Amino acid sequence: MKNGVDAEQQSTRAGTTNETASPARRWQKYAQISGWGMYVPHQVVPNERFVELGLDTSNEWIATRTGIERRRVVGDHEATSDMAVRAAKDALRVADMHPNELDLILIATCTPDHIMPSTAALVQDRLGAKNAGAMDLNAACAGFVYALSTGVSYIESGRAKNVLVVGADELSTHLDWKDRSTCVLFGDGAGAVVLHASDEPGVMATTMGSDGSGAGLLTIKAGSRNRQHGARHKNNGKNGTNGAPAMSDDYYLRMNGPQVFRWATQMMARAAEKVITSSGLTVGQVDLFIPHQANARILETTARRLGVPIEKVFSNLKDYGNTSAASIPIALCEAIQSGRVKAGDNLVLASFGAGLTWAALAMRWGVAVDMQVSRWKPLGRGVEERVAAVRSVSRRLGWRVRGEIDKRFRKDDDGK
Ligand code: UT7
Repeated sequence: MKNGVDAEQQSTRAGTTNETASPARRWQKYAQISGWGMYVPHQVVPNERFVELGLDTSNEWIATRTGIERRRVVGDHEATSDMAVRAAKDALRVADMHPNELDLILIATCTPDHIMPSTAALVQDRLGAKNAGAMDLNAACAGFVYALSTGVSYIESGRAKNVLVVGADELSTHLDWKDRSTCVLFGDGAGAVVLHASDEPGVMATTMGSDGSGAGLLTIKAGSRNRQHGARHKNNGKNGTNGAPAMSDDYYLRMNGPQVFRWATQMMARAAEKVITSSGLTVGQVDLFIPHQANARILETTARRLGVPIEKVFSNLKDYGNTSAASIPIALCEAIQSGRVKAGDNLVLASFGAGLTWAALAMRWGVAVDMQVSRWKPLGRGVEERVAAVRSVSRRLGWRVRGEIDKRFRKDDDGK
């Protein structure tokens, strides 16, 4: 691959055993998904709403050209971390795992709550996952598969046993509701999985790639580079009255739809093909293909290129639109809930996004999906959640008290 990280290691592995992998026993475990969860906001925006808003569009155009009928949009007091926490709690519940058992939290998002701290750190605190490292990863709509591959690597190398991987985005905040070519496409949501070290496969192959020469095709330009431009341009070289940079059009998502469309249908098929081959599978052995939910026509063309029958392609696009990094984990959850996934199935995930970026992953589904969480567990989890909330509040208070003490009693920076 020209610009990309190939899954050669995994592919070597797929046809061999752990023991043959190395004298240093490099491959300790397989990574398996043992928990899953999703959250979408309550507010439903049907296609007709755009007509009511005065846009020159129609339900018919949107439904036939994209496959989208409605999407969910965050409420005023909802942010990416709120959705991520809800999805993560469900995933931990299904995995029957205490947050303290997590070694790492990865949040794939291009719409973090803040530039810093990371959304992952906020989620870590809200979950009370006191033993976990936490970081965000931005590969736009391809972010979840990127983060999943990263989590898999931590587990396979033996550096982590349990990893929480979340895809969460609220692109609605960055939509120009007057631009009919973009605002009808996106929705908000979050999906999460718990990855667990196992002796059984597991994730078999991953691939990811990027091509920054296509950066201009899909953008939200706000950032350090554009802050300076915006400030200089809009305020004649001065910052805003409070010293803050001026807000500008750069906060809106802009896209060259047709170019992204053509590129996506080629790239997703190629990436999926790669992980299928690397895992030692044939296309005919794929039981379920879960592509990034961007446009029904992209899904159909990709499936045709790949040679996967459309019945094996999962889509929930009509209900949620394109939820960016959340689209694949939400689709996975709904595939499980609708009985489309069973133990032993071969699943292929493929995604693409701004960057440009792409990623794919092939796995053998290892766990029974009809497992029941015992009755006392939800009760126990409720208690754990309260403990996490109390812990968070008391630690925040602790920081403030220490700050006050420092201010009053410590004279020097070194605390003497
Ligand atoms: O996660 C990755 C995110 N990106 C994507 O998934 C986007 C991939 N691209 C697409 O899904 C499609 O390119 C779009 C749905 C964005 C557009 O569909 P298209 O079939 O490629 O349409 P087009 O851009 O070629 O536009 C055809 C016509 C244009 O009108 P004219 O110039 O022919 O008069 C557009 O202005 O359709 C018009 N159009 C619309 N008409 C009614 C574009 N958006 C709309 C709309 N309603 N919402």
